[in-house]
Amino acid sequence: MEKLLKTLGPVCAIIGAQWGDEGKGKAIDLLSEHYDVIARACGGANAGHTIVVKGKKHVFHLLPSGALHANTTVIIGSGMVLHLPTLLEEIRTLQEIGIDVLPRLFISEEAHILFEFHKGIDAAMEEMRAAKSGKGIGTTRRGIGPAYMDKAARRGIRMGSLKDDLTKEIEARVEPVKRSFGATVDVELESKNLAEARKVLAGRVANTVALLHRFLNEGKKILIEGAQATLLDIDHGTYPYVTSSSTTAAGALQGLGLPPRCLTSCIGVAKAYCTRVGEGEFLTEVMSETGDRLRKRGGEYGSTTGRPRRCGWLHLPDLVFSAQVNGTTHWNITKLDVLDEEETIPVGIGQKTDGSVQYENLPGWKTSTEGVISFEKLPKNAQAYLTFIEKQTGVPVALAGTGQEREAMIVRE
Ligand code: IMP
Repeated sequence: MEKLLKTLGPVCAIIGAQWGDEGKGKAIDLLSEHYDVIARACGGANAGHTIVVKGKKHVFHLLPSGALHANTTVIIGSGMVLHLPTLLEEIRTLQEIGIDVLPRLFISEEAHILFEFHKGIDAAMEEMRAAKSGKGIGTTRRGIGPAYMDKAARRGIRMGSLKDDLTKEIEARVEPVKRSFGATVDVELESKNLAEARKVLAGRVANTVALLHRFLNEGKKILIEGAQATLLDIDHGTYPYVTSSSTTAAGALQGLGLPPRCLTSCIGVAKAYCTRVGEGEFLTEVMSETGDRLRKRGGEYGSTTGRPRRCGWLHLPDLVFSAQVNGTTHWNITKLDVLDEEETIPVGIGQKTDGSVQYENLPGWKTSTEGVISFEKLPKNAQAYLTFIEKQTGVPVALAGTGQEREAMIVRE
């Protein structure tokens, strides 16, 4: 681990390379005890980072999953949109298992508040899209797009205003929200939520940009926890089937107010196969029993919405693209063990002239890799699978996940 930490350097970003749900939480959990500061930069409660500790599942939507480690300072960055009841609930859940995150939590004064009515608008917009074209984007309906709409329209309400009475601002939204989207603004509910959040969180709102720069100057180590993933990026993803924030390494730095040159490494996280929730292109998707088998073995149901995930094979051009956009220095390939029973593993390596996917069929290993923690102990074909990814993408596989437990991870120095 020591050698790996040296190559990662003091400021590392962990970024999804596919369409989210790659299992970023596990690498974050493994690394965060070696970092002083854990920061989330963008997105909101559309994310669901699951980690399993002693057989118990913990899902984080807003708090970075590195918050589980008692000695870390936790930053919620400027680029985020925050549903405050969800944040309070997560803080409480951690308290119940003996982890008090509040005294070490700093929330950016620039982060935007996501209200209940944003969720109402999200649902209304999805229904409008479905009525118009037969299908929506398949959003998580957590209000993410509408919260970022308000931010871009410069009428959002930021955490810096949490200390104030915001009743008038909320009341002013009743009519326009009804007129434009047929959605309701429940002023009483929003005010109640704000009052509860104010009591607990107002004292934790800070200038996190200044704070992060102070930490940098003090030589503290910062782990940046990406949310969603590269192919869901508002600019570089499979538009319009994307989320509304910048999910890349550059987006994370922007969302924290950190300069690009401070990043010393970027771990790209990709499943050994591929999944997607919601609508949009997925060239290597498999619909047959094979898709069902991957879904079952991988437990591929959304951690935020419970929706069954679409499943398919790894598509290396996506990893190459993701490595370019993010400056990926290391891969974490996750859930290798899900492929344990496959006879042959097709990997998308490009497109044929007719536009269909060109596959390379790699031999499966038909042996359990669950819980294996050293590359040398992997079956030869599983080693070859990882080596193939490295060769095709030009990025080394530093971490490989081999099971649900936090210990089930190969760390290559
Ligand atoms: P939104 O972010 O809720 O607006 O959803 C936009 C698209 O991004 C939909 O296809 C969602 O399923 C997808 N999405 C958003 N967050 C996540 C995530 O954390 N994991 C996987 N997909 C996500």
